[in-house]
Amino acid sequence: MSLHDDFKPVIAVLTMHDQQRMFRGNHQNFQDILQTGESMGYVVYIVTVRDLDVTGPTVKGYTYNKGSGKWISQPFPLPHVLYNRIPNREDERKPSVQRKIDECLQSGIELYNPFFFNKWNLFEWLKKSKSTQRLIPHTRRMRSASSLGTVLRTYPYLYLKPESGKAGKGIMMLKFQEKEKLPYRLKIQNTRKSMTYKAATLSKLWARIRKETGHTPYIMQQGIELASSHKRPFDLRVLVQKNGKGQWSVTGIGARLAGSRSITTHVPRGGTVEDPEKLLTDLFGEEMTTALMKRVKSTSLMIARQVERGSGYKLGEMSMDLGVDDLGEIWFFEANAKPMKFDEPQIRRRSLERIFQYSAYLARQSAR
Ligand SMILES: Nc1ncnc2c1ncn2[C@@H]1O[C@H](COP(=O)(O)OP(=O)(O)O)[C@@H](O)[C@H]1O
Ligand SMILES: [Mg+2]
Repeated sequence: MSLHDDFKPVIAVLTMHDQQRMFRGNHQNFQDILQTGESMGYVVYIVTVRDLDVTGPTVKGYTYNKGSGKWISQPFPLPHVLYNRIPNREDERKPSVQRKIDECLQSGIELYNPFFFNKWNLFEWLKKSKSTQRLIPHTRRMRSASSLGTVLRTYPYLYLKPESGKAGKGIMMLKFQEKEKLPYRLKIQNTRKSMTYKAATLSKLWARIRKETGHTPYIMQQGIELASSHKRPFDLRVLVQKNGKGQWSVTGIGARLAGSRSITTHVPRGGTVEDPEKLLTDLFGEEMTTALMKRVKSTSLMIARQVERGSGYKLGEMSMDLGVDDLGEIWFFEANAKPMKFDEPQIRRRSLERIFQYSAYLARQSAR
């Protein structure tokens, strides 16, 4: 293997085989990744866990044929870097998948993105460092009615979220207003709307919550009064990736404004894509916005480093949901180890290029 800076490694995008669709995941996203890589001069293909045989000499991979609009399979050389895009936790947890990933690591293939994060772990990691401690809302595991009651006394406004959730699924909002006849107000998020349940007692509330959560592990988290625009709260989506030098760097910052009847800002739930600087300038003015955007960048880098340290693995990218409150304070909500596509064209293009720049760095490192 050449140690030269312009050495182009072979990169494979790892996913799961699928009976109907050949392989799982967002095919459009995969097309974009392949197209970017090819235009940058890399050999890049999709490989399923099932087809990836590290004993080689070649593996069956998929590539997209633009002319025919079809995916075609063909033999490819073994990859130097494996970009993990297994799209769901259930698949990734399977022993057969874990075994395959271990085999790859042992055979010297660089793994880019080891696994999904769990929300509770993220908070544990960020609690450990002074620099990130102050960014996280008070968070506890939700285990019993009594622990919920205790937290509510200090934080009468809470978010309840599944530890392994995504895209707003299963999120609830809870308010305790002591003076009301029905002091507990629980907002449950459906696809677009949310409904409110009011309860007189903690035990009635708990029964309703349990009906919603079943045995799924949940966290309870201090609710943050987010900055809002026309009464719709918004938050920031930051994409942080390692660059061609292996250093964390901010690829882009977007904003999502909540749908008028939603307790989250997700686009499929009526949220909209916005320009963060515009939203912030309307609220805080130009000067403070410039300072705030700088702080968002440095904060995101700090978070990425601490998450990486906490995870105990080498990470290559993550997206983060950050809130800004009325005072301009920044709050951490979550980080995603396998970021979804950003809708902002500039962030999108840069994010795709970064994948290859960092892969090249990884391959150079492992060749040393
Ligand atoms: N503690 C909180 N306070 C206020 N808003 C929150 C809080 N937690 C989450 N949210 C809102 O809900 C959204 C989804 O929460 P998040 O933790 O990112 O879950 P998911 O994995 O479902 O995306 C956030 O982007 C934010 O808008
Ligand atoms: Mg989120």
